[in-house]
Amino acid sequence: MKIIGTGSVLPKQIVTNDMLSEFLDTSDAWIYPRTGIKHRHVISDEKLEDMAIEAAKKALDDAGMKAEDLDFIICSNVVNEYITPSLSCIIQGGTGAACPCIDINCACAGFIYALDFAEAQYRAGRVQNVLIVCAEEPTRMTSWKDRNVCVLFGDGAGAAVLTAGDNIKGIKLSAASSTEKLYQIRKLEPTPYITKEEVDIPLQMKGQDVFKFAVKASSGDIQYLLDKLGMTPDQVDKYLLHQANIRIINSIREHLGQPEEKFPTNVETHGNSSSASCPILLDECNRKGILKRGDTLALSAFGAGFISGAAIMEW
Ligand code: ACO
Repeated sequence: MKIIGTGSVLPKQIVTNDMLSEFLDTSDAWIYPRTGIKHRHVISDEKLEDMAIEAAKKALDDAGMKAEDLDFIICSNVVNEYITPSLSCIIQGGTGAACPCIDINCACAGFIYALDFAEAQYRAGRVQNVLIVCAEEPTRMTSWKDRNVCVLFGDGAGAAVLTAGDNIKGIKLSAASSTEKLYQIRKLEPTPYITKEEVDIPLQMKGQDVFKFAVKASSGDIQYLLDKLGMTPDQVDKYLLHQANIRIINSIREHLGQPEEKFPTNVETHGNSSSASCPILLDECNRKGILKRGDTLALSAFGAGFISGAAIMEW
């Protein structure tokens, strides 16, 4: 397939590190050097589904495609207001599409997993036009009393429209189950047959373990694909990585021996928006003219599970 349109939406509320230090024992002096984050966009009176629909419409507009021409919608999401129906079904209605749709939960690696799913459906001859929307509100998953976690995240939605083409050169998906390193647990409805005490547990994270996994998985996935395609890191024009932490991005860059200008970032102003991070960055680079048609792009993301994925494509 090939990507022919992108779109993104951020919530209007900006929360700076200084604003966090008004109610948390933290500071810009701690957060910025360790993460590269100056501020993040946080959902307030917006609804995630509205942001997802708006991002989808922007991507369709950019692609010059009507919603009714879509053959499939894939939505990557970890949490939103609705447990059911699926967010993709809400997006289908909101955009006026009439095609089947599915939600996936692959944490921050969702965009890469969605690309793989779309490509597989296309190669099976089942679809021509696919909309991917990654919509996330991780700020609703964390405890805002936990300075270890809540300072890292921001919300947003990113979308991409794909159609027939052979621009996707390779995708590598990986998983290495280690569920105690990054997780959130929600309390389900009680039944007469449940006797154990249940509690909601907000997002928990062993930061240094996540950091090590992220660097190893992301540089490993990219290198695997480069080797498979007979390419060197120098032949990639832009690396669009999951925007979790500037130090993670820099470590991956050093593993690949590549210059800073090949790694566009927005973690400084957006924080980590989970699976929305990659398509938001892609959209911003697209609209700013940072990507040139014919450029070779490497995308890579990692997240809870642990799972990770990378894709190499021609823009
Ligand atoms: N402000 C001030 N102090 C803090 C804060 C904060 N926001 N957070 C933690 N600290 C303190 C800790 O309590 C600890 O104090 P102690 O030494 O007295 O116990 C100290 O700072 C050091 O904590 P560390 O965890 O050792 O700090 P580290 O240098 O590892 O940085 C960080 C922490 C930034 C979280 C880093 O480990 C990291 O970036 N990990 C990856 C996290 C990530 O990317 N997660 C998401 C990826 S997956 C996904 O996207 C869902």
